[in-house]
Amino acid sequence: MHLHKLEKVWLLIGIGTLVMFLTIVGISAFAQGHHPPSDLTTLDPQKVDTTEPFNQPGLKKIGDNEYELVIVSQAFAFMPNDIKIPEGAKVHIIVTSKDVVHGLEIVGTNVNMMVTPGHVNSLTHTFHKPGSYLIICNEYCGTGHQMMSTKIEVTKA
Ligand code: CUA
Repeated sequence: MHLHKLEKVWLLIGIGTLVMFLTIVGISAFAQGHHPPSDLTTLDPQKVDTTEPFNQPGLKKIGDNEYELVIVSQAFAFMPNDIKIPEGAKVHIIVTSKDVVHGLEIVGTNVNMMVTPGHVNSLTHTFHKPGSYLIICNEYCGTGHQMMSTKIEVTKA
């Protein structure tokens, strides 16, 4: 089979691009551990109030400036309401929904999760700068969607 020189060049560019893409994806997934927020843990959305850890939503200190923040979403609020943490705190956010699909976005950070009933979603974020962080719901969830928000107050250490 005879291939034109330009065909060979483009074939090489195509194969090269594919190899480069797979290498980058492979390194970020396996070496750096990047992956979409996990929601492999499931629970009965009817029994959120009696299922650990969602029976006690709130902030729990689990280490040196390290916290676990358990959030329950329901139309049209997040529980707990006012969250205060010190500067530099590493926070493991664990969230679920009692009714419909909500979103959990912390404005100005890259925390952005879909909150699905029946699933537990989690993400870890370190708050380096003090200030007030707005948590909003970014999935349309009903007539009160635009009022669904709360705040995290990051205080100076
Ligand atoms: Cu909850 Cu929009």
